[in-house]
This record gives sequence, C-alpha cells and structure tokens, in this order.
Amino acid sequence: MDGDNGVVEEVLVARTSRRTEAEPWNAQSPDNSAQNRLLIKGGRVVNDDMMQDADVYIEDGIIKQVGLNLHTPGGTKVIEAKGHLVIPGGIDTHTHMQLPFMGTFAVDDFYTGTRAALAGGTTMIMDFALPDRGESLVEAYHRWRSWADPKVCCDYALHVGVTWWSDKVGREMQELTEEHGVNSFKMFMAYKDTWQLNDSELLASFKTCKQLGALAQVHAENGDIIKENSRKLLSLGITGPEGHEMSRPEEVEAEATNRACVLANQAGCPLYVVHVMSKSAADVISSKRKQGHVVFGEPIAASLGTNGTHYWHKCWRHAAAHVMGPPLRPDPQTPAYLMDLLANGDLQTTGTDNCTFSASQKALGKDDFTKIPNGVNGVEDRMSVLWEKGVVAGKMDPCRFVAVTSTNAAKIFNIYPKKGRIAVGSDADIVVWNPHATRVISAKTHYQAVDFNVFEGMEVHGVADYVICRGRVVVEEGNVRAVSGMGKFVPKLPHSQHVYGRIEERDRANAPHKVERAAYDGPVASLNGPAPSSAVEDSIIPASSQEFYTRGPTRSGGVNLHDSSFHVSGAQVTDKSPKRPSVKVNNPPGGKASGSFW
Ligand code: URP
Ligand code: ZN
Ligand code: ZN
Repeated sequence: MDGDNGVVEEVLVARTSRRTEAEPWNAQSPDNSAQNRLLIKGGRVVNDDMMQDADVYIEDGIIKQVGLNLHTPGGTKVIEAKGHLVIPGGIDTHTHMQLPFMGTFAVDDFYTGTRAALAGGTTMIMDFALPDRGESLVEAYHRWRSWADPKVCCDYALHVGVTWWSDKVGREMQELTEEHGVNSFKMFMAYKDTWQLNDSELLASFKTCKQLGALAQVHAENGDIIKENSRKLLSLGITGPEGHEMSRPEEVEAEATNRACVLANQAGCPLYVVHVMSKSAADVISSKRKQGHVVFGEPIAASLGTNGTHYWHKCWRHAAAHVMGPPLRPDPQTPAYLMDLLANGDLQTTGTDNCTFSASQKALGKDDFTKIPNGVNGVEDRMSVLWEKGVVAGKMDPCRFVAVTSTNAAKIFNIYPKKGRIAVGSDADIVVWNPHATRVISAKTHYQAVDFNVFEGMEVHGVADYVICRGRVVVEEGNVRAVSGMGKFVPKLPHSQHVYGRIEERDRANAPHKVERAAYDGPVASLNGPAPSSAVEDSIIPASSQEFYTRGPTRSGGVNLHDSSFHVSGAQVTDKSPKRPSVKVNNPPGGKASGSFW
C-alpha cells in the first residue's frame, strides 16, 4: 500500500530492505498513545548556538523540558541517547515530490519522498507548487495540497512558483501570503518558453514580494543563452548528457545570479538563490552580502557531495542520472568550495532539489540532452552527506551543522523557533544522531523510489538512529515507521524578522533625500518658441552627456548616431519635452545610497 488512498497507515521497514508490505495503523493503539510522553536521556543537545548535556522531555508532540534530572510521569517511553547528539530534525528547503515536469512525473511522491526524508533525519520539507504558464497560482497551490496532505509522512511547507506574470498573479501572491501560509515565491530565469520570466517581470514580482513581506527566490540561469547554446551543440551532433553542462556553464549561472541580486536590491526585496551549484555563483552571493545586500544562498546535497565530471561518464544512463539544472560542475573542487562558504556563513541553508526520475524516464532524452528530465535525489542523504563533508572534514562544528541543516531555514522562512530548535515549546522534531556510525549510500538500500543514487558508494559517518517527528518515534534503530498523512502543512507567515528586519532598516537608512536649495530665479528657455539659438541649445544638453556630442548634427539636423548609441533611447538633444526631474542617490553628500526607492 503506498498511502495513495489517504488511509492512515504504518509501515515497518528494515533499512536493508527497500519495500515492505504496509501494516494497518491503529491510531488508538496503546503503542501510539504511549508515544505521547517521551524522554530522550543522556544525550548532548545541539542547537545552532550552543551544545549542552541535557535530557529532553516531550509531551503531545511538543518539547516540555530540557535539562538534567527532569521529573517525568510514569509510563514515559525512554530513549537512551548516551554518546549521541540530540539535534533538531533536518529541514530540506527544496524538494519536488511527484513534480509534473518535462513530460513525466518525478518518481518519488509525497509518500516515498517524505518517508525517505525521515529515514535520513529530515523531519520537514519545503516543496514547490509550480503552476503552468497562465494557470492560477492559488489553484496550483490547492493542487499541491491535495497531493501532499494525504501522503506526507513528515511536516511540509510550500513555496509557490511565479511562472508567468500579470496583475492577477500579483493579486494571487497577496492571497497566498495573507490566507494560505505562503511567504516565498520562486521565479525562474531559465526554462525559456515555459517558466522563464524576463527582467521586467522579475522586477515586478520582486516588488510584489517586497510589498507583501515575502521572500523572492530565484532559479538563476540565463535561459536565453541556454537555448541558443543547446541549439548549437545539437547541430554539432553533441546529443549526450555532457551537452547539458556545456550548454549552461558556470558563467551562465553567475550572470543570472548577479542580475537577480541587482534587480532584487533595486526593488529593495530580499533574495534567496536556490540550488547554488557553482563557485562563481556562490562568489556573487558572497560579494553581494559583503556589499550589504539581503541575499541568501542555498547549496544542495548534490552540489556539496558530488560533481559534474559524471556527465562525461561512458555509460549514458549514469551520466543522464546526474542531469539537473543548474548542472553539477565539472570542476572537482566545487563541492569543497561550496562547503567552505556554507561553513563560514557566506551561504546559509541546504536543500536537495530532490526531483527524481528513473532510468526509463531519463531515457526520454536518449537522443537529445535537452529532453532528459532534470533532477537528482538527495532528500534521504542530505544530513549524512553534510555531516561527512562538513563536520568530519573539519569544516564545521555540530552547531554550524545544525544551523545549515535546519535552524537557518526555520529563521529565514519564519517558522522559528517552532522548528529548527530544541527548546521548551518547540515542536518535538528531533534526531538522535550517531556521529560515529557509518553507512554506505546505495540505491540498493535507500528508501527512495528512484533507481539511482548520485552518492552511490559513498561511506558516510553520521546516522539517524532515532527520528522523532512531532513527538512520534518514526525511526527506531534503523526501522522506519512512516505513517502516510501524518505530516502537517506548516504555514509560513510573511515579514520574517530574520529577513525583513534589516530590509526595513535599510529602507530607512537609504531613503532618498532631495537637496534643499533656493529656487532658481534666472531666465528659462522657451520650449514652444522658435528653434533655440546654439548657445541655449548647448545649455539644455545634460552636462554629464556633453562629452558624447563631439560631432555635428546630421544633414537633416538630427543626432549623429555615430556619436553614441547610448543616447538613442534616452534623452535626445533635440527633445522638445521637458526634462524629467532626476533624483540622484548614488553618491549624495552624507553617504552612498545603494538601496531602492520601493
Ligand atoms: O533540475 C532541476 N533543478 N529540477 C527541478 C526543477 C528546478 O529547476 O528546480
Ligand atoms: Zn530550479
Ligand atoms: Zn528545484
């Protein structure tokens, strides 16, 4: 039984077997009610800002006490956690369960995908409702809810895609933010002819996010360049998966990342760059942050754990299994570089972009790399890959691990401290993490439905021995007890303090100020009278532009286009319309304003 019918069920699965028949779940069973009270004893509690030896007592899904020598009622179930870390359940900020995409559907649905998430220590996912071009955003949201609600085994939230633009889209963003618990919207700069927005549409959507207190997210790749490059490569006979990376190299991601940062900053809108895949895109984010932009970057398990050399693998199926957008990068230093930035605070969260397609689905593009469904796995292995490449590699301590696997996401998406913290009053989403145990990742043993794992053969330290989701033990000594429909939708409210606190201050600090001066009381040229004398004409050329007008006018008296094409679409020397008043804010006396007017 796969939970499709919405019946509440429990599945007991041993880690070594991929599928076991479901057993009926009795919500009233003594086993279930005993789990209302739970004590995690003897472990080391890790939050993003501190570690302490403490027990954790849970009742009805909420953390009630954290400390030593706790008084707990009789009959409380006890988990012995000596030698283990007790960490907040992971939050995967980026998944696409059962996404309808490129002519097919992602094979991991909200049941198999969230069950696998739990197995690896992730207790909440954030998925994307992506409307078709022209489709109502609110309808797409409800469609995703109707798919997810009966199936999810862990908690989830939704981002919504802005895949086209109109005033109606803006109004629907407002409705989603105010009434449906959505505070983040993803805009695509790639997927030309389907989801891609142009710059004015991006700007309009960023301004709308700003007005709503929502977070703008971008898929940052230049879709026009990708389309053009793909055409060229195919015409050269390059049809295999290597063409996927060649059509969208690093600078194509970096250019879009930079453009998104500039547009968002001009709109005064905070920006969240999803699936950061390259060193150069990460560098853009890091340098914009240094300039004060409110921008966040999300590398994913795949970009931190493997690389794009696989696109040149001789086995087509192997190479195609790694196809995703933006692609993994052939520079083998990329994962370690991204991990360094994540460890040091230049990047903030980790998702997976889990969007899985099996061999026969990938084969839709066997003769044309542009038709290979884009997406890889990660939801099950993110926590272990991060632990191995981050903590075991000596780049981050357990606190930073917690920050980048749950707490920062909870803060940015405004669900903190309900999620992402072990503290009294928080949801009891907890992982009893064995930092010393090892496992070897393989598609043969993973819980995901997909038949390939991009981390195949990787030995990782860090195993989720127990996973507790809203107070219920869902992983116990390697067994996953996944209950279809047990997870809840978590609404995300707008105006996250972590995101907008600084935006509001920046708006205030960067507000443009006019120069107070005495009014000009000299002569003013007439615009309706006879053609101005050359002396007057000279005086109406903007001073900053005079250097461009070194040649005389054309024989017909027009602007000589050889002087500068820059002016053709701007103010013309012969314009008879009054010049617009300008407010110069770049370097006003008293400080540079790099913010926005919106
Ligand atoms: O390859 C990817 N990333 N597939 C999922 C859709 C997206 O762009 O996130
Ligand atoms: Zn994307
Ligand atoms: Zn994605």
